[in-house]
Amino acid sequence: MAVPGVGLLTRLHLCAQRRTRVQRPILRLLSCPGTVAEDLRRDEQPSGSVETGFEDKIPRKRFSEMQNERREQAQRTVLIRCPEKISENKFLKYLSQHGPINNHFFYESFGLYAVVEFCRKESVGSLQNGTRTPSMAMETAIPFRSRFLSLKLKNQTSEQSCIQLSDQLPPSNRKLCELLCYAESMDDQLNTLLKEFQLTEENTKLRYLTCSLIEDIAAAYFPDCVVRPFGSSVNTFGKLGCDLDMFLDLDETRNLSTHKTSGNFLTEFQVKNVPSERIATQKILSVIGECLDHFGPGCVGVQKILNARCPLVRFSHQASGFQCDLTTNNRIALTSSELLYIYGTLDSRVRALVFGIRCWARAHSLTSSIPGAWITNFSLTMMVIFFLQRRSPPILPTLDSLKTLADAEDKCTIEGNNCTFVRDLSRIKPSGNTETLELLLKEFFEYFGNFAFNKNSINIRQGREQNKPDSSPLYIQNPFETSLNISKNVSQSQLQKFVDLAQESAWVLQQKDTDRLSVSNNQPWGLAAILLPTVPNRRSFTKKKRKRSANESVRNLLESLKSNRTANFTETNEKRTVSTQT
Ligand code: GTP
Ligand code: MG
Repeated sequence: MAVPGVGLLTRLHLCAQRRTRVQRPILRLLSCPGTVAEDLRRDEQPSGSVETGFEDKIPRKRFSEMQNERREQAQRTVLIRCPEKISENKFLKYLSQHGPINNHFFYESFGLYAVVEFCRKESVGSLQNGTRTPSMAMETAIPFRSRFLSLKLKNQTSEQSCIQLSDQLPPSNRKLCELLCYAESMDDQLNTLLKEFQLTEENTKLRYLTCSLIEDIAAAYFPDCVVRPFGSSVNTFGKLGCDLDMFLDLDETRNLSTHKTSGNFLTEFQVKNVPSERIATQKILSVIGECLDHFGPGCVGVQKILNARCPLVRFSHQASGFQCDLTTNNRIALTSSELLYIYGTLDSRVRALVFGIRCWARAHSLTSSIPGAWITNFSLTMMVIFFLQRRSPPILPTLDSLKTLADAEDKCTIEGNNCTFVRDLSRIKPSGNTETLELLLKEFFEYFGNFAFNKNSINIRQGREQNKPDSSPLYIQNPFETSLNISKNVSQSQLQKFVDLAQESAWVLQQKDTDRLSVSNNQPWGLAAILLPTVPNRRSFTKKKRKRSANESVRNLLESLKSNRTANFTETNEKRTVSTQT
């Protein structure tokens, strides 16, 4: 359940001058990604008002409210594969025969697709009733009615494409480096990174729609099931390109008919029994995996990974471009997502710092899409939260204090674990801490560069360091299953790499002259400088070397930056989204 995608960083020559803020004309152009028009349009969005679904100006919704609203929205939505050239007006007029459309957008992912949200759910049924199963000359179609449709032109007239494009790709590494170097401060850099990489409104909608489409398939067996997104797709820390973690929730199926009748009798379903919950989970996922493989339109590369600690079905949803991990009986992970959603929404610095650290870790190959002995994004996020709990005054409350704010409605026990914490964000007092992002980033590296990992564990429940209960190199207590370590997989050498890089980055950021020298020498500075890969003379950075004169060190650093090299700078494997609103 992690992120694929790497990119190349080429050296930057363009950042001698910081960006000057110019009033841009409002563009209504048919623009292509990567063009000047597109660049300008990207700049048109005032800072802080990007569509994320999580922006500050939106009243802070409870996680469950947000999930329910988005799920209901997704149920009124269809996904349509479109001909390459299409008139948007004709397209909308055609679909409006089935009812008013609330919202739509187009995106490209090996073809042109449209996401169309009707105002009413009945419109979807009406559209499906007017849709046929394709007949093919050479192959046979397995008949399957879903909300994933194809639109064909009856007459092959040459349609003019009149679609407004809004590129939702993360920026190229070069563009990102430019943006970071043009920023006015490190705070500006971190906010820029967040703005460029956070999930867009359209991307979030597509994630909920994909879950809804999978729910339709699973509903063939479990009519009352719900497929809920969790993890970074919904916890406010998702980057464009992150995987889509899904939770097949069968609670309704399990509990529906309890105590509905009066009298002296109780009816129960006749069911098959298996020896354990785990075996039940494996059987359910196995069947759903088969179903996705055989009947799921656009579901390819289905893998059943049933012997994992947390059994899952992994597949690619071709039309959305998402790598999906479907689990069931994983409610604690959903609750963890809810907790992270609260932390991510409480203070605007949290997400900016987490994105900065995630990008930094990815750039230095501290994290990977392949499971292994490395730190995960989830663990990194916990480390940032812990660090922010340790500030004075704290920027984030401990989980225990969120528990004390909980009311009766928030009481929650999952598999014997206490998962109670306040869900209503308005009941949490904002922090009085006013530290800048720049300071926090530097202090993060300083803090973890010197953390006593050999004896202490990280614990966001209490917000303080504790003795490690075992000898795992990195011990981050699972916030809900408190006897577990979420970073048990991390090896000593990976931890050491993290510590070395944290120390090195703290050092780079502390060089007082870095900023000034960089600007005058057209070199990456601040955040851009620490997103560069480690090169031999930086890797050999030691405490001894730290004592060298600052001038010599900076000179070496700049020398190393001059050499031509490539880097894993950011993740860029996301499709392009084209958006319009009716
Ligand atoms: P990215 O996919 O890397 O962007 O982040 P993510 O937070 O979605 O991580 P991932 O896909 O690996 O896992 C999805 C969710 O599963 C996380 O957000 C957690 O809620 C949960 N999770 C992941 N790893 C662990 C773990 O080691 N222990 C526990 N208890 N939960 C985990
Ligand atoms: Mg994930």
